[in-house]
Amino acid sequence: MGAIRLKDVTKKFGNDIVIDNLNLEIEDGSFTVLVGPSGCGKSTTLRMITGLDEPTSGEIFIDHHKINDLTPGKRDIAMVFQNYALYPTMTVKENIEFGLENKKVPKAERQRRVKDICEVVGLTEYLERKPSTLSGGQRQRVALARAMVKQPKVFLMDEPLSNLDAKLRGQMRVELIGLHKKLGTTFVYVTHDQVEAMSMADDIVLMKDGYIVQQSNPRELYQNPNCIYAAQFIGTPQMNIINNVFPDGMQLGFRPEKLYLQKVGKEHITIQAEVVTKEMLGAETIYSLKSAYGILMAKSQHEVDDDSHLSLWVPFSDMYLFDGQGCRMTLGEAEKYVIKQTFDRQEG
Ligand SMILES: Nc1ncnc2c1ncn2[C@@H]1O[C@H](COP(=O)(O)OP(=O)(O)O)[C@@H](O)[C@H]1O
Ligand SMILES: [Mg+2]
Repeated sequence: MGAIRLKDVTKKFGNDIVIDNLNLEIEDGSFTVLVGPSGCGKSTTLRMITGLDEPTSGEIFIDHHKINDLTPGKRDIAMVFQNYALYPTMTVKENIEFGLENKKVPKAERQRRVKDICEVVGLTEYLERKPSTLSGGQRQRVALARAMVKQPKVFLMDEPLSNLDAKLRGQMRVELIGLHKKLGTTFVYVTHDQVEAMSMADDIVLMKDGYIVQQSNPRELYQNPNCIYAAQFIGTPQMNIINNVFPDGMQLGFRPEKLYLQKVGKEHITIQAEVVTKEMLGAETIYSLKSAYGILMAKSQHEVDDDSHLSLWVPFSDMYLFDGQGCRMTLGEAEKYVIKQTFDRQEG
């Protein structure tokens, strides 16, 4: 079991409030990803769960037991950092076994566990090697194995892949998903990378300035963001926002993949635009387009020439509406009417 709960947790450094009354529930066995820009408090949150940092106020629970007063070693948590320090003079096997010797696990048991875990992470061939003879990805696997061999209730990872190149990062993502499936342990993973969050998480906690903006599964976060910040954090290019034409500061959003270059059957608006640049990605092309509302981005499988003048379609079913503060609003019949009127007038 490894359910985590933070209740009214605040963390100050001097007078700076870094975590502001955080309430967070992490389900047992989940792969939960804390995501947000650099400095939003992700690492501080993890460090408070492990016990490396102490909350200024508030309570932290694992499986309903309050752990505030437990030392890191007593919390049954393992953590992997971005800079995984392996002992250079020890072999892979010794590096992994080391933590178990400290915990006074008997020798036969230690060896069995090291062998099992190395099979899981694919290190069996490298047991007698020194870290300096391994690739970045293999070293990261040793760091993971060293944490996993302790069989913790909870497994915390702070940007563990950020030192790897893009290809290896992609590979390790797939391996971590597989590992989580096999172990069934609670994974809490920190990253600033929305692609990592979307591809691995079953639960995403989107943070900003020390608080939680939205917590939901990846699909829900993409389809149903609760504010402009959440809407623009997920997806590249980010969601288009038109914010200079509606009454009461109302703002209209639609994703680049929902700005259609070809006619759509559904109830829609049209926007006149001119292609400014295009970026071919293979299966798709990303267009930047000049419109009466500023530059809009489109992502499409359709090919059109530079300088083309286009009629673009945005279906009402793919629109998001936000108020002047950027909070999500309902798109009801009254709002549709306002939008339709506004575009009809502008587009003639
Ligand atoms: N030990 C510390 N002393 C003072 N400020 C700190 C300390 N650790 C973190 N901070 C500040 O707390 C904020 C959140 O940091 P952090 O949790 O590391 O963010 P993230 O991991 O999301 O990038 C930042 O503004 C950072 O400068
Ligand atoms: Mg950090």
